[in-house]
Amino acid sequence: MTKSVTLRRPDDWHLHLRDGAMLAAVAAYSGHFGRAIIMPNLVPPVLTGAQAASYRDRILAALPENVTLRPLMTLYLTETTEAADLVQAHRDGIISAVKLYPAGATTNSASGVRDFAKVRPVLEAMAEAGIPLCMHGEVTDPAVDIFDREAVFIDRVLDPIRRAVPALRVVMEHITTQDGVDYVSANDNIGATITTHHLVINRNHILVGGIRPHYYCLPVAKRETHRLALRKAATSGDPRFFLGTDSAPHPDRAKESACGCAGCFTAPNTMSILAQVFEDDVALDKLEGFASLHGPAFYRMPVNDDTIRLVKRDTPAAYPTHITAGDETVTVFDPGFPLYWHVEDQA
Ligand code: DOR
Ligand code: ZN
Repeated sequence: MTKSVTLRRPDDWHLHLRDGAMLAAVAAYSGHFGRAIIMPNLVPPVLTGAQAASYRDRILAALPENVTLRPLMTLYLTETTEAADLVQAHRDGIISAVKLYPAGATTNSASGVRDFAKVRPVLEAMAEAGIPLCMHGEVTDPAVDIFDREAVFIDRVLDPIRRAVPALRVVMEHITTQDGVDYVSANDNIGATITTHHLVINRNHILVGGIRPHYYCLPVAKRETHRLALRKAATSGDPRFFLGTDSAPHPDRAKESACGCAGCFTAPNTMSILAQVFEDDVALDKLEGFASLHGPAFYRMPVNDDTIRLVKRDTPAAYPTHITAGDETVTVFDPGFPLYWHVEDQA
């Protein structure tokens, strides 16, 4: 018997589209999403409303005619960001959120925040204007083990910021730990995105039998107990948890290297993987909440009007293993199991 599920069109609340040839190559792969929060960690980063508007236009120009993805832009918070500029960009409808990277935490985060006291006035202005703050939740202290950086961030940075600015609406991005799940579950005014790949891989996938650079991302995947905590949160129906793929394409050359960079490119097959994950957890009825309803509720936006249909067939859906971007290839995330769930766009 053919199984199928119809969902309100999903959104991706955390996406890297890059720029130039990479943008041209990857943008259409997110086409089954209605909207996507676009990360600002370009080189150089997206710092002003004018830069965000021009990046938005480049994204729209890169999308094929039949793709209706709406990019929701963000600004990259630095210690010199002017509160007035940011609030104006939000008022003008150019940006939907602001992204905080602790300096040095991940790809292109060198201009991020070192001293959180310096951004406190901006955070207060954002709280007043109702602008969500998307946080990359890892400390960068070299003394902290990489597998503990999210848990330590909660204690050292996230909780103090939320106590100092309680009205600030925070998204803890791409949570990877039970600690992240517990913190978000126990608080209000906070949401969390969960990626597709963190629902599928644990740290063994990266390290057992050889180093597998295409499973390396940040925050790095943790031990199995944490992956199971994420599965439980994503399939729980709790509206604080929603999909943000963190699909982050890099040229294979840059990942398959002595110092490979972080990021999994999951845009092409994300919905097929999620359908399998939710089916495995006997929670297909919770997929629409996670992928299509909880995000808009947090961001105070309407849900999408149209739908997509996921159909389970006897033959696996065909996804490329690699795509081409200019002179480069990019590897598509391999979940390690066949994908029988096909996405049928109903637009
Ligand atoms: O794995 C990641 N890749 N994590 C991030 O936070 C950034 C992203 C990227 O931009 O490549
Ligand atoms: Zn990201």
